Amino acid sequence: MSDRTRRILVTSALPYANGPIHIGHLVEYIQTDIWVRFQKLRGHECHYLCADDAHGTPIMLRAEQEGLQPEQLIARVWQEHYADFGDFLIEFDNYYSTHSPENRHYAELIYSRLDAAGHINRRVITQAYDPEKQMFLPDRFIKGECPRCGTPDQYGDSCENCGSTYSPTDLKNPRSVISGATPITKESLHLFFKLADFEAMLKEWIGSGTIQPQMANKLNEWFTAGLQEWDISRDAPYWGFEIPDAPGKYFYVWLDAPIGYMASFQNYCSRVGLDFADFWNPDSGTEVYHFIGKDIAYFHILFWPAMLTGAGFRKPTAVNCHGFLTVDGQKMSKSRGTFIKARTYLDYLRPECLRYYFATKLSDGIDDLDLNFDDFLQRVNSDLVGKLVNIASRCAGFITRRFDGRLAGTLAEPTLYADFVAAGDSIAQAYERREFGRAMREIMALADRANQYIDEKKPWALAKQAGAEAEVQTVCSLGLNLFRTLILYLKPVLPGIAAQVEQFLQIDPLCWADLATPLLDHTIVEYKPLLQRIEMRQIAAMVEDSKESYPAAEEVAQPAGHLASDPIGPAVSIEDFAKLDLRVARIVKAEAVVGADKLVRLELDLGGETRQVFAGIKSAYAPEQLLGRLTIMVANLAPRKMRFGVSEGMILAAGGGGGIYLLSPDSGAEPGMRVK
Ligand code: 2FM
Ligand code: ZN
Repeated sequence: MSDRTRRILVTSALPYANGPIHIGHLVEYIQTDIWVRFQKLRGHECHYLCADDAHGTPIMLRAEQEGLQPEQLIARVWQEHYADFGDFLIEFDNYYSTHSPENRHYAELIYSRLDAAGHINRRVITQAYDPEKQMFLPDRFIKGECPRCGTPDQYGDSCENCGSTYSPTDLKNPRSVISGATPITKESLHLFFKLADFEAMLKEWIGSGTIQPQMANKLNEWFTAGLQEWDISRDAPYWGFEIPDAPGKYFYVWLDAPIGYMASFQNYCSRVGLDFADFWNPDSGTEVYHFIGKDIAYFHILFWPAMLTGAGFRKPTAVNCHGFLTVDGQKMSKSRGTFIKARTYLDYLRPECLRYYFATKLSDGIDDLDLNFDDFLQRVNSDLVGKLVNIASRCAGFITRRFDGRLAGTLAEPTLYADFVAAGDSIAQAYERREFGRAMREIMALADRANQYIDEKKPWALAKQAGAEAEVQTVCSLGLNLFRTLILYLKPVLPGIAAQVEQFLQIDPLCWADLATPLLDHTIVEYKPLLQRIEMRQIAAMVEDSKESYPAAEEVAQPAGHLASDPIGPAVSIEDFAKLDLRVARIVKAEAVVGADKLVRLELDLGGETRQVFAGIKSAYAPEQLLGRLTIMVANLAPRKMRFGVSEGMILAAGGGGGIYLLSPDSGAEPGMRVK
């Protein structure tokens, strides 16, 4: 490795604590995680920090809707996010929350330093106010008719039909999205950050290679438009930190969100004994990188470095923007089933498949990237299964069966191995520059060469030749050494598979420096398949599961009642109906099925006999609400094997889009009674 050990701090944008992680988010976390893992693999000191973005009006209202305190909502979502990231092999060194004492401390510190230096302005502004809910309304919480084209139901900032932008006071027949009341206007004192004080600094900073060229154009537009003062306060009721010298006023969520990077780092420092100042003091000699989506560049390229500078901290080394994800060429859509939650994906496919696919598509630019399902399936199956894993499966058996797992003591073709090692410089450069697509292409070109080598040498033919025993060993040992090199190069992308390979090869965790030393005269263990091919039916099932509609018929009984839009089905004879054995059942156990969004596992007492049933009713019932209840089940439905176990019947519920309503007999009914 040529460069000295670097000290690097890396962040991804902090996801809001009011919704699940989806595959659109994952572009960024996967991109960052690959870059961080690469730095660590190279032997650098690299710290990867993140947190939930836990403040703001939408989180406050969501908690209210769910009948929770905001603290309860953000605690639950934190757990979900943390589990989703972990299962996608996103390895944060610290995953924290902006609703933390450290964040309050740094928000207050930065604000007070900015204020003391004269960078905060105070003035009264007029805003839309919901007289019923008694709160000021953010633009997105007001709807009405577009003042230009008259389209109804448009948000307070822009029209989806004609594209015009306006202020919420321009809307015709405006109403509060929260209460439905007609908003009034009301005055209030607000605090503003004087961004223009930092114009010269920002122009210089931006010119020093800190942002991508594609973002520079955007910036010039912003500079030309003029740097406006930024409103950093919000009136109560608001979910966030109260401003110390302004009772009833709160820091706007976007003020304390990026400060959350520091807070997470501070929390981590206290945990592991690092020095905060080493990374945040000016001229510290360390590196700080933020990975973000291009939509939040304004906050990270203008406000954030200006706030840091005004408060006496260092600026980021670079802000790396990426584009958005489309699925099969279109925006992710809940009705098409392409708005895929991280958890739903994990129910069907291995995280490494998406990590690899995104890697093949990622560059240092800000273009959007497309997840095309045919291409995804083909890339994973052909590259990872057909090329990569194939090398090991073709060589390992001979070594295990004929040589007791022992690799040869010499390299059959040292120059071939040397070529693989030499390719590392270019691959490392591609990783460093976030040109992951290029890195993947170079690695797969090497995989092709390794396969060609095995094709040429034909160990399976050699194995049948008298006197070629030693050659079988050297050929397969070289094949496995080439494979080890490829796994090392892919380790930032495929950490789980790399760990399986380290176990198979019986080696310590691979690091870049290991390239120099091939694995010779070394015993490995039996090869076990590393990755299965993806089947289109897995993808189809994942998409189906992501469709936001009524749970699939196989998971919940069809409604006993019907809605006007749900026509009555074809007639059945009384004989057919009599074939159904419907019974009263008591729910004696109910638990959420880990890994399935809609399913609850029930144990049903049928009056002496207990049955297990998986029911798609999780969206309507928490397991504890079900315990002890009587319901009706189809007792003679043939058992069905589901992914989580065998379902031995079906319970009946009414529904049809507006909810799910479990059927229950009147009181007095006993488990096991026949329903007729
Ligand atoms: O856009 C978002 O999802 C924000 N929650 C990102 C915040 S990034 C940082 F500034 F905290
Ligand atoms: Zn319009």
